[in-house]
Amino acid sequence: MKRLVLSFLLIIMDLFLSPGLQAQQNATVQGPISSSAARTGGSKAKPAPESRVLVVYFSYSGNTREVARTIHNQVGGQLFEIQTVNPYPRDYDAVVKQAKQELETGYRPRLKNQVADFATCQVVYLGYPNWWGTMPMPVATFLSEHDFSGKIIAPFCTHEGSRLGRSVADIQKLCPGATVLEGLAIRGRDAKKAQGDVSAWLRGIQMPVRK
Ligand SMILES: Cc1cc2nc3c(=O)[nH]c(=O)nc-3n(C[C@H](O)[C@H](O)[C@H](O)COP(=O)(O)O)c2cc1C
Repeated sequence: MKRLVLSFLLIIMDLFLSPGLQAQQNATVQGPISSSAARTGGSKAKPAPESRVLVVYFSYSGNTREVARTIHNQVGGQLFEIQTVNPYPRDYDAVVKQAKQELETGYRPRLKNQVADFATCQVVYLGYPNWWGTMPMPVATFLSEHDFSGKIIAPFCTHEGSRLGRSVADIQKLCPGATVLEGLAIRGRDAKKAQGDVSAWLRGIQMPVRK
């Protein structure tokens, strides 16, 4: 019950919050927003059949991990979990507070692990929970630490009502040279039964799946 009330409050506050992430990005990032053709999986965004695939995600309580595994089952490639050097508190109120503070200050938590051969990956499925209307800051760290020029990013998130929020625009600002496709949003409680939604999304963005 407490979580439900908190989720509701988060969604309402999300509408009014002026996020540090956006303020900071507006100040530092230049570059094009992806074309509508690319966002809807137009021909420009089609990967070569032999493209190397990375499914990378951050998950606090496991929902996004479930969706990442479902996507990985369908598209193959390398599966990688973003983890922070300092883990987030298990207490829900504490993590909500910390996440808000990190967003407002543009904090970039240090990451514990490194993805192998990132430079050779052409298609990156990027997953995260919606936190305060956008991606959690560890995902922003990951995006800032890698060069996404020329790569295709297919974002997916789990949420409790805000769907993708501002996250897709925020990804594009952090990765101006990437083509960012239309994202997939799954309710947290539906994460374990997302196969159908995942298949439909992959078809919609015209991404190859394993036979
Ligand atoms: C710090 C924090 C902030 C959140 N902010 C939002 C939000 O703004 N909008 C929303 O719909 N859900 C919000 N949620 C709910 C999560 O997005 C949702 O529970 C998600 O499925 C959790 O994914 P995970 O299990 O992979 O961590 C928030 C959860 C946390 C912990």
